[in-house]
Amino acid sequence: MVYCIGVTGGIGSGKSSAANLFAELGAAVVDTDEIARHLTARDGDAVGTIAKAFGDAVIAPDGSLNRAAMRELVFADTGRRRQLEAILHPMIRAEARRRVLSATTPYVLLLVPLLLENKSYTSIVQRVLVVDCDEAAQIERTVRRSQLSEESVRAIMAAQLPREKRVEQADDVIDNNGDLEQLRSQVTALHQRYLELAEAHRRQE
Ligand SMILES: Nc1ncnc2c1ncn2[C@@H]1O[C@H](COP(=O)(O)OP(=O)(O)OP(=O)(O)O)[C@@H](O)[C@H]1O
Ligand SMILES: [Mg+2]
Repeated sequence: MVYCIGVTGGIGSGKSSAANLFAELGAAVVDTDEIARHLTARDGDAVGTIAKAFGDAVIAPDGSLNRAAMRELVFADTGRRRQLEAILHPMIRAEARRRVLSATTPYVLLLVPLLLENKSYTSIVQRVLVVDCDEAAQIERTVRRSQLSEESVRAIMAAQLPREKRVEQADDVIDNNGDLEQLRSQVTALHQRYLELAEAHRRQE
């Protein structure tokens, strides 16, 4: 089976930035956030089921999922959130699996923000890479990029594993407290290591 490295990290830690740099070096990247967006876009495979379960009020005029309406609906309602996850998560997993298994590169990165919280991908992931930076940087970078307030970012962080618990479970850690050049040099070194590990894995099979 293809050598698959799960990439995770807290909100705004730099997962996507790191993944893009790996992709530049030739790694295949399977991004579960991107799959979720695809499934809930216009004509996406999840839209019909979600509309049936939640009503047309959560569907935008163009036929895509109205994310803001959906977020509001499930925000304070755990039952509703579970119901949405029960529809979406198996579809995301199946598509992620399909993409990982069809990759033709020496190794694949599977981007899962809640990899260690949910444990849904343990059977396919051989190694865990955590992208880590301190909380102040997470907040600063996320607020700068999105419409989220510092308070909302803190609320999201509170629902995720604390940094030290995540790092504890990592096989590899990228320290993304530095600048983008420092990120790039760590990615380049890990890419070499992953090529070697993937080759060793392939020989064992
Ligand atoms: N080392 C860095 N120095 C400065 N800015 C950075 C660095 N790494 C990432 N950023 C910026 O911080 C923001 C968050 O990074 P990125 O989107 O890669 O994080 P993420 O972990 O994918 O976030 P999310 O959890 O929202 O998916 C982006 O705007 C990115 O350009
Ligand atoms: Mg991201």
